[in-house]
Amino acid sequence: MYKGIILAGGRGSRLFPITLSTSKQLLPIYDKPMIYYPLSVLMTAGIKDILIIVNPNDLENYENLLGDGSQLGISISYKVQPSPDGLAQSFILGETFIGSSNVCLILGDNIFFGENFSNHLERGINRTKGATIFSYHVNNPEDFGVVEFDGDRVVNIEEKPNKPKSNHAVTGIYFYDNDVIEIAKNLKPSSRGELEITDVNKTYLDRNELYLEKMNREFAWLDTGTYDSLIAAGQFIHMIEKRQGLKVACLEEISFSKGWIGSEEMLKQANKFKSTSYGRYILNLLEER
Ligand code: DAU
Repeated sequence: MYKGIILAGGRGSRLFPITLSTSKQLLPIYDKPMIYYPLSVLMTAGIKDILIIVNPNDLENYENLLGDGSQLGISISYKVQPSPDGLAQSFILGETFIGSSNVCLILGDNIFFGENFSNHLERGINRTKGATIFSYHVNNPEDFGVVEFDGDRVVNIEEKPNKPKSNHAVTGIYFYDNDVIEIAKNLKPSSRGELEITDVNKTYLDRNELYLEKMNREFAWLDTGTYDSLIAAGQFIHMIEKRQGLKVACLEEISFSKGWIGSEEMLKQANKFKSTSYGRYILNLLEER
């Protein structure tokens, strides 16, 4: 069984002054807070038990936004990360939450959109041993973890290399077996002082237990780290939703389609948001049934 962790801390310093007094992952991506998107990914993967890791000052805001998750038929709990000491710290902070389960980590600022994503996720979920990472062809691999190949076989991963060996960046969603807790505990901080997720992945690579899902060019993996990429992500979601008349990352829709909530809870949620197109969308879903 997989549990899910959303990492939603960090300084957000590339977005200052916007993020001086608020969490980056609560900023809007068009019609909903950024964290809805990674949460929708976990829910789509069928993961119902979720830990959100946040900065000390932001805990209350997240609790106000998502509560204990029962309105969505899921369970959400929270953990504070005292300082941003690296992605891999998630598994140390989340040790009690993870227990003896496997775990999927997703970064709170990563937006995924595209066909066949469910199939990719399913392959991650169905693998009970080892680690699954997802790569995406980008123009600026030097800004990410980068996968090096020999044919289709991963031979190395480097964190933000000066001379990337490929254009395939490691995206911010990772599936791990329970060994990840011990692996994280044994990591040494990198030169930038962080417990690196890339070092976790390298450990699985050394064990011959690292699996890669390549996301193709029809897929969109969006960045939200700068002023420009933040607004571009919002415009992308706006454009898709206007064109299709369907919402991306409507949490209530996912829960409802999975049978985790019924019409009554849907109606409650629709009424909460009834002055918006988000609320009307939920109401329409109910009426269409
Ligand atoms: O987005 C994918 C990339 O994420 C991977 O390709 C890299 O291998 C991985 O190291 C990571 O790279 P970044 O350096 O871009 O991660 P960043 O420090 O920007 O943190 C990613 C998100 O996680 C960001 O929203 C802040 C949050 N975060 C980060 C750290 C270091 C935390 O919540 N706590 C932390 O300690």
